[in-house]
Amino acid sequence: MATIYNTAATLDGFLATTDNSLSWLFEVSGADDAESSIADFLAGIGAMAMGSTTYEWLLEHESLIDNPTKWQEWYPNQPTWVFTHRDLPVVEGADIRFTRAPVAEVHAEMVAAAGDRDIWLMGGGDLVGQFADAGLLDRMVVTIAPVTLGAGAPLLPRDMRASRLRLVSIEHRGQFAELTYDVGAP
Ligand SMILES: NC(=O)c1ccc[n+]([C@@H]2O[C@H](COP(=O)([O-])OP(=O)(O)OC[C@H]3O[C@@H](n4cnc5c(N)ncnc54)[C@H](OP(=O)(O)O)[C@@H]3O)[C@@H](O)[C@H]2O)c1
Repeated sequence: MATIYNTAATLDGFLATTDNSLSWLFEVSGADDAESSIADFLAGIGAMAMGSTTYEWLLEHESLIDNPTKWQEWYPNQPTWVFTHRDLPVVEGADIRFTRAPVAEVHAEMVAAAGDRDIWLMGGGDLVGQFADAGLLDRMVVTIAPVTLGAGAPLLPRDMRASRLRLVSIEHRGQFAELTYDVGAP
């Protein structure tokens, strides 16, 4: 069982533009193939976590309030913790748990729910940084797009040196480079 940050990012280390757009990602040819590798990855995932900006992006981009069954199709066995201090709309029928509890407490609940499957931290970067600060991030899988944005939501706004990160694989996926790192304790 591992806790994994799996995300796409730009070559200059951003998850999204300053106004939270991902259009730069969908413009890259072969982005659909990268999405199908996420389907394989999801099969091994037993719990997910994300911040409220990421959740609200999914709600809006995929019209999930009007089409709630999509969530169940994508994430049939993945209870999801959404970190927020606000009351957010709920996708009907989805196993979504809003929380503002410390990440270590939430991580323990996620481990219990996931059993022997992995945990997917979807982002954003600071939330994943909170898990890393607590020593609760085992691996990062970053799919780099041939794009620079110059500014935006950062991949991982932390000072993490080579003593903590070990490159374990590089996969060439069309226009994308998938880099996998093991993450050591702080
Ligand atoms: N490229 C990709 O594959 C990819 C992957 C993931 C995300 N994204 C995008 O990247 C952007 C990330 O946005 P973001 O950096 O703003 O991150 P985010 O983590 O999605 O959202 C940040 C929000 O999460 C809540 N939060 C974080 N830590 C918390 C804690 N400990 N307790 C309670 N609430 C907490 C706060 O929400 P409240 O203000 O509600 O309290 C905070 O404002 C989004 O546009 C997203 O769509 C892209």
